[in-house]
Amino acid sequence: MKKRIIGIMGAMPEEIEGVVSLLNNCTSSSMGKRTYFSGQINGIDTVVVFSRWGKVAAATTVTTLIHEFKITELWFTGVAGAIDPDLKIGDVVVGKRLIQHDMDARPLMNQHEIPLLNKTYFESDASLLDMASKSVATIFKNSSLNSAIDAEDLNRFSITKPQLFIGDIASGDQFFSSNEQKQNLNNQLPDVLCVEMEGAAVAQVCYEYAIPFCIIRTISDAADANSHLDFPSFVKKIASKYATEIIKDIYSQF
Ligand code: ADE
Repeated sequence: MKKRIIGIMGAMPEEIEGVVSLLNNCTSSSMGKRTYFSGQINGIDTVVVFSRWGKVAAATTVTTLIHEFKITELWFTGVAGAIDPDLKIGDVVVGKRLIQHDMDARPLMNQHEIPLLNKTYFESDASLLDMASKSVATIFKNSSLNSAIDAEDLNRFSITKPQLFIGDIASGDQFFSSNEQKQNLNNQLPDVLCVEMEGAAVAQVCYEYAIPFCIIRTISDAADANSHLDFPSFVKKIASKYATEIIKDIYSQF
């Protein structure tokens, strides 16, 4: 059997810093403006990297993880803006299907269809999705975040009873900051729960290389006129703690 080597990505430094602190025997190497942190978590070889923003940045980073670091699976933890009105800041979405909302090669093919792949959605690996969902549910059930995050910060974002959602995530090279953008996406893709800028690009690369992947997103903002205010402070105060607790629990299932 192939040796397990886990890749973990986040799109912001704050999203990965807690996860990097879990690495034993941590070493780092730089390539193409990225720093790859290698080590072990619970004895399993792991590489953690901050990808930078957007589909191109994410795609090149995951390709490097596959070619240079020989990862055998990929986990992405980060934040997203809510599209479904049931989602609140602090909820977590585990992506069942990933779609590139800005892919549009009409009239040559259907809107959102990825050229030459004959595919519109990329599915997360079923067993990774199951593990991620169990971990998020456990963390919420045990209120683990209450000990990891200052009460003041949780109050500031009115995070009282965060919920787990499993469903569609849309990615594209746009930061959503208006109800109009939100409504437009919702009209085109009514099943989409949240929006971000990397997941479906990572999903495409992993699909092409047959690497199992799972995308986990914490809701940082409502993808509306306040999103540019909520997003940075959420990322700074809260996102890293969510990512760390989720990853810790996932490793406890290996
Ligand atoms: N990631 C977090 N919030 C986002 C938003 N509002 N738009 C796109 N990506 C995001």
